[in-house]
Amino acid sequence: MKTSKRVLTALVGAALTFGATSAYAATTLKLSHNHNRDHAVHKAMAAMAKEVKELTDGDVRIRIYPDAQLGTQRESMELMQNGALEMVKTNAAELEAFAPDYAVFNLPYLFRDQAHYFNVKEGEIGEEILASSRDSGFVGVTYYNAGARSFYTSKPINTPEDLKGMKIRVQPSPSAINMVNALGGSPTPLAYGELYTALQQGVVDAAENNIPSFSLSRHSEVSKYFSLDEHTMVPDVLVISTKAYDALSEENREHLKTAAINSMELMKALWAESEQKERARAEKMGVEFVSPNKTAFVEAVQPIYENIESNNPDLHSLVERIKAVQ
Ligand code: GCU
Repeated sequence: MKTSKRVLTALVGAALTFGATSAYAATTLKLSHNHNRDHAVHKAMAAMAKEVKELTDGDVRIRIYPDAQLGTQRESMELMQNGALEMVKTNAAELEAFAPDYAVFNLPYLFRDQAHYFNVKEGEIGEEILASSRDSGFVGVTYYNAGARSFYTSKPINTPEDLKGMKIRVQPSPSAINMVNALGGSPTPLAYGELYTALQQGVVDAAENNIPSFSLSRHSEVSKYFSLDEHTMVPDVLVISTKAYDALSEENREHLKTAAINSMELMKALWAESEQKERARAEKMGVEFVSPNKTAFVEAVQPIYENIESNNPDLHSLVERIKAVQ
């Protein structure tokens, strides 16, 4: 497969580079993600990598591979589980298949507003979820704000009716699939890197994401209406293999956490800036931003919560705890 060959070449290249230059045994953590260098999350993680190097006196280095050079998010997760790389910046939607508690971040209209969402992800519940994947061979280090996700396509989406019969690209998350079904669309899971062509060729009719990802991936060239229904707030998540994490000294683990939290805070400012800038850029390219009334969307997804209450007591209790957070 083309991707695995590319991945292998990059990994061998990296091994040779580090093998040749490291005179002492510094730990290098390879970090894969699927955004380009202009994306706010890349900048936040670059700041984290710099701080980790400083705090650990060069003992721990993070080398970032952007742009899905090492494969899609799913492939990167598998490479990390197999020990071929150490860290992945992914998101809660992708993680739902690995650790079910991440589902709460993929449920539509659960968070009342941004403050509620921040309090959940940065509080006790957020920490519990980051730790919940240990049995799958990795743990979460931090979350990065990734704003709210909305639908985009070649027409305005003002009510769920407008989504009827449309093939809508979703991430491979059972909650995202349920959401699109509840709204009357036809969910089509696809990797992020395949979406531009899929939209262009009509393999899918619509997609959903936040504004910076929509614009920086140039989906704005092929979808001219971005409808701000803001159905979910799905954080990006930085994860590390338990093998790599447990091999760090306790002090270096603390340095990693400090740098990660600082980059998470930095990301909030970078994100706000990026949302504004990328919206303006998309508008210049002829994208129209529509603000639908959200009531019908909120009502249409209620059966999802009824279903969780009857069939998934663990998830239901997590949802109730989240609702109780201020
Ligand atoms: C966001 C997120 C990515 C994810 C992408 C997607 O852009 O930052 O981690 O892959 O959504 O929709 O696939």
